Amino acid sequence: MTLIIVLLVVLAFGLGAWLGAPYLPIMRRPAVDLLDLAELQRGDTLIDLGSGDGRLLKLAAQRGARAIGYEINPWLYLISLINCYSHRDLIEIHLADYWRVKLPVADVICVFLIQRYMGRLDAKLSKELTRPTILVSYVFSLPDRKPSKTTKDAFRYDYQIERNN
Ligand SMILES: C[S@@+](CC[C@H](N)C(=O)[O-])C[C@H]1O[C@@H](n2cnc3c(N)ncnc32)[C@H](O)[C@@H]1O
Repeated sequence: MTLIIVLLVVLAFGLGAWLGAPYLPIMRRPAVDLLDLAELQRGDTLIDLGSGDGRLLKLAAQRGARAIGYEINPWLYLISLINCYSHRDLIEIHLADYWRVKLPVADVICVFLIQRYMGRLDAKLSKELTRPTILVSYVFSLPDRKPSKTTKDAFRYDYQIERNN
């Protein structure tokens, strides 16, 4: 029984690492800085792609923003539901592979991925965004786009997309 549980945990964390980025939670100071870099406002909608234990979602909700998370690891999904319960009126978390999800309209998208997937992310956002959206990325930059702002460990990109679909 213990072996099965260990295997399920290893599988869940391995899946996240394989499909996007391994679980490595952002620390509080950089998380606050990331939301400042995005200039997140009360009433905004934020998406965290790979929302881990929900810490960025909770921080965003504490600022009065609506927050939507996508997390592929079922253990982290459950932990994030518990962590975010106190702000459940503002937070929505989906157990899902963000590559397979059509992104809802948002003001800010946060990511903490790995360099290998940044080009794929840019292609997804360029295809799916229907209105101007801010992307903030912790540590890793987009290969073919110039950031509008940077801090010592994060990048901000302003997607200026106007479409009627
Ligand atoms: C580096 S962690 C960042 C966690 C959280 N955003 C934070 O800053 O604390 C990356 C997260 O993305 C999740 N992940 C990786 N690939 C994913 C995918 N394709 N769909 C949904 N979540 C994914 C991992 O399970 C992990 O929790």
